[in-house]
Parts: sequence; C-alpha cells; structure tokens
Amino acid sequence: MTLLPPTYDIARSYEENLSAGPVYAGAIPPAPASRKTWSFLGFELSSPIGVPAGPLLNAAYVDLYAQLGWDVPVYKTVRSVARASHPVPNCLFISTDTLSEADAHSVRAVAPAPQSVAGLTITNSFGMPSMAPDDWQADIRRASEALRPGQLLVVSVVGTPGADGRGLEDDFAHTAALAKAAGARVIEANFSCPNVASAEGELFRDARTSASIVRKIKQRIGDTPLIIKIGALPEEHLAAVVEACLPFLDGVAAINTVPLSIVDAEGNQALPGTGRLKSGVCGAAISEVATEMTARLLRIRDRLNAKFAVVSVGGVMSERDIDGRLAMGADLVMSATAAMWDPLLAHRWKDSHG
Ligand SMILES: Cc1cc2nc3c(=O)[nH]c(=O)nc-3n(C[C@H](O)[C@H](O)[C@H](O)COP(=O)(O)O)c2cc1C
Repeated sequence: MTLLPPTYDIARSYEENLSAGPVYAGAIPPAPASRKTWSFLGFELSSPIGVPAGPLLNAAYVDLYAQLGWDVPVYKTVRSVARASHPVPNCLFISTDTLSEADAHSVRAVAPAPQSVAGLTITNSFGMPSMAPDDWQADIRRASEALRPGQLLVVSVVGTPGADGRGLEDDFAHTAALAKAAGARVIEANFSCPNVASAEGELFRDARTSASIVRKIKQRIGDTPLIIKIGALPEEHLAAVVEACLPFLDGVAAINTVPLSIVDAEGNQALPGTGRLKSGVCGAAISEVATEMTARLLRIRDRLNAKFAVVSVGGVMSERDIDGRLAMGADLVMSATAAMWDPLLAHRWKDSHG
C-alpha cells in the first residue's frame, strides 16, 4: 500500500487549502446499509466515528467527509477574532517510533514520507487560525446543511485573551455562544493546543481555570452539550480536572497532539519562525499515549459514577484501532491524521460492521 495524497495539500498554505480544498479525486461510495444506531449525548448517530477538530477547515471539508461516512465531523477550532495561520510548512512527516508520555517535550527529527498509513506520523503547526466570526458563522450554517440524518456537527472553539477587551474566560463563552447561534449542535472547548505560545495552549493542566471556563461557557450555551478537548495527564491530575469541570461538562475528548521539539536532519529547528520549535505530534506514534488516556478517562468515569462521554482521539489509523477503542468503552472514536490520508477509513469500517 502506498500513501495517497492527503485531502489537505501540505505543500500549500492554510489559506490556499481553505479556498481551494479539499483535494479528493476518488468516488463517493454509496453509504453501507445499516440499521444499527449509536447514541451520543442524546443524538442518534449512524456510527460512532468522527474527524476531530483540524482536518475539516470549512463547510466544503465537512461536506466531503460527511458524504464519505464520517458521522461526527468537528469544525476546526474558531476564534472570536480573525487570526492568520503560521506560514508553511504546517505539516511535516516525522518518524513513527511509538511515543510514551515521558517523551513529551523531547526532540524528534523530520523523516521521509512513509509508505503506508500505518507508518504515518506528522507534526502540525497552524497556531489555531480563524476566519472572522461573521464568515465562520455563515460557513457553519452551510456545514450544518451538508449533514445527513444520523450525523452530528460539533464546533471547536478557543478563547483569545484580550479580544475586543474580553478576558480569556469571557471570550471562550462569547465564542461558544456565537458557534451555537450558527448551528453547532455540540460545542467543544479546546483546552489544549501545543502550537500557540500563549495561555490558551495548556489550559487543561489547570483544574480551577478549566472549571471556571466551562462554567462560563455553560451559562451562555444552556442545554447545548459541552465537550472539553485535552492533552495527556497523569491519572490523579486528570481526575482532579474532570471532577472540577464535571458539573458543567458533557464529554471529554482526548488527546490533542503531543508537544515535541521538531528538528531537521542537522538538528536545527524544522518549522520556521519564533515559538515554533515545539510542535504538536499526531498519528501512529501517539497511539499508546491516546489509548492510555482513554483507559484513564473510563476508569475515572466509573470511579466518580459520572455520565460524561469519552471521545477517544489520537493514533487511530485503521479499522482495528477503531474496534479497539470501542471495545475499551469509548463513546466515540475520531481520527485526524489517518482521515486526511485515508478518507475512506470510516466507510470501510462501516461496510464491515453493517
Ligand atoms: C492538520 C491538523 C490540524 C489540527 N488542528 C486542530 C485544531 O484546530 N483544534 C484541535 O483541538 N485539534 C487540532 N488538531 C489535533 C487533532 O484534533 C487530534 O487531537 C490529533 O491530531 C490527534 O489525533 P490523530 O493522531 O488522529 O491525528 C489538528 C490535527 C491535525 C492533523
């Protein structure tokens, strides 16, 4: 198996991909006939498979992936103010040796393109760019209209400290309210982005701030379900964060990318520009870290006798990986990196699980 071109052209800028993408020359296979449905946060879904925040830049991407059977598309993280992307390159291949949590913040070198999706690990670095709210709200309305019965649109939001004079917490809540007004059925608050140098990058480590933000968001979005997206944490630390947020929370999605220092063959910073030595790693290499985080969230949910949904993200590269996360007890399974290079993955899984 050779690697096909991804739906996001990694040689081109974010803006070019936004206006010209997605890249897909294949056919749209007919949806497999299945009568089975999956329940998630009160919605009835055709499958428990989604694309997490990132690869779906706008309604055109959401439309393509919905047609290809990814039933829970997450609209890439938006802000309350327009923000440009980091310059190209934004995605580089790196070696696929499995990472452990202890490897976070260590150094890894870029590598040649792998031969197959199984060996696919990349770093991605965009800095959470965003269209202006009027533009993304109109686009989210188009994305909602592209979905079929049994599909669910989640919108990922992040707060921008100082935007229009709002503090981080108020801006998170404001942005979530804008996303809800545009038609988001579920809001995901991104508490973890290794590719920004500012405060919003590692919020999930701080139980008090996280709880205070989810409380403010919930005050604004009412009964619209709220998910937080987080990175890897040791079990007791994770339990403290979940417990603090629990009164306002409907689900936890984990993990976001794992931050590493990315260097070229000479050992120099691989991505150009200040603050870009550290960059988020995703794909096959983070599978173990992600699987362990899913196990921790499920244990914590049991221990607290709580009801929040667990969304397993990270290193899901194959049908087998989807089965594995579901067998653990995850409510939803999502793939970003594999979904970009293997957009038919969800269809194949559904075809063999009818
Ligand atoms: C191209 C790309 C862009 C991403 N952008 C975002 C983002 O805007 N917000 C977010 O919460 N996560 C973002 N992520 C992280 C993914 O949602 C996911 O957590 C991570 O890639 C791990 O999953 P994977 O191993 O299947 O890629 C992005 C990932 C990729 C590959």
